[in-house]
Amino acid sequence: MRILGIETTCDETAASVVSSGFDGRGEILSNEVLSQIAEHARYGGVVPEIAARAHVEVTDRLIARALKNANCTVKELDGIAVAAGPGLIGGVLVGLTTAKAISLVTRKPLMAVNHLEAHALTARLTDGIGFPYLLLLVSGGHTQLVAVRGVGDYVRIGTTIDDAIGEAFDKVAKLLGLPYPGGPHVEIEAQKGNPERFNLPRPLMGRPEPNFSLSGLKTALRLEAEKIAPLTQSDVADLCASFQAAVVDMVIDRTRVGLRAFREIAGDPKAIVVAGGVAANQAMREALQRMAVETGLRMVAPPLALCGDNGAMIAWAGLERLRLGLVDDISAPARARWPL
Ligand code: KG4
Ligand code: ZN
Repeated sequence: MRILGIETTCDETAASVVSSGFDGRGEILSNEVLSQIAEHARYGGVVPEIAARAHVEVTDRLIARALKNANCTVKELDGIAVAAGPGLIGGVLVGLTTAKAISLVTRKPLMAVNHLEAHALTARLTDGIGFPYLLLLVSGGHTQLVAVRGVGDYVRIGTTIDDAIGEAFDKVAKLLGLPYPGGPHVEIEAQKGNPERFNLPRPLMGRPEPNFSLSGLKTALRLEAEKIAPLTQSDVADLCASFQAAVVDMVIDRTRVGLRAFREIAGDPKAIVVAGGVAANQAMREALQRMAVETGLRMVAPPLALCGDNGAMIAWAGLERLRLGLVDDISAPARARWPL
């Protein structure tokens, strides 16, 4: 089976062809991503109207390139998958309309997939992980612990009560004058800094329900930064290191609590899986890995290229859905909000 996947929900235009591989995994035949970072950088965040227009300009070319690199024609596809949300509605409409057009012309099945579901199923594409597993989904817009019991069978165990983790990384970066998008820059600074210099709070740590909170931590960091302003390079590095250490401590504590909740509803997990853009953070990956070893579980994190938004995860989610007969027609709506 060969599926085309199209992703346009935020600031990355992406197209990919994925086929069913071996041992339950997928095989990525092509994976094209065009980032719009340069277009949004001077505004310090994603501008929805600019994003939608940029998607319009490149989506068809990118799909053509994904097909060419996969050595595959449209006719040879078994289906077309597209992220139909959640995301910026203008961008979602670009991808969805394109996918519907291809599906109509070729009479191939259309799978309108949830972007979060695609992040959630990436560990199956890369590692063939069986159900159930505990998912830690950490991106710019979402922070959730989810029991993944099957395709389409997700139980949310915990979530953030304020900011998403990626969003907090981005806000901290902005506050410290680091470039957009902030997450990777905060991580680079953190590697040079002293994580113990600032004693920042770990909100909700120790609490019995596996939720997250970031806003108190962010405010505490701002107050520390204001106390010592103007900031030197080493101040920035120490602030980033202290912030990242607090986030990682919190994530580990919350995931441990989530694991207990998981066992109550789904039994023993096959793995702890981390997904979403923040899953690229090395310190977080290492801490989760240590925690998994301690608890006797396997930890699965996608390769860096599949942590951020990409077309391969959309194609794979479409492939999983098609195998179960879960297809959509051209009435499939674009959704700005679409909980998992
Ligand atoms: O999944 P994603 O590409 O887009 C959304 O669906 O949100 O996630 C993007 C988020 C951004 O907030 C970005 O700053 C964050 O992931 N991020 C990181 C790292 N790389 C990306 N955060 C911390 N450390 C990183 N290395
Ligand atoms: Zn994403």
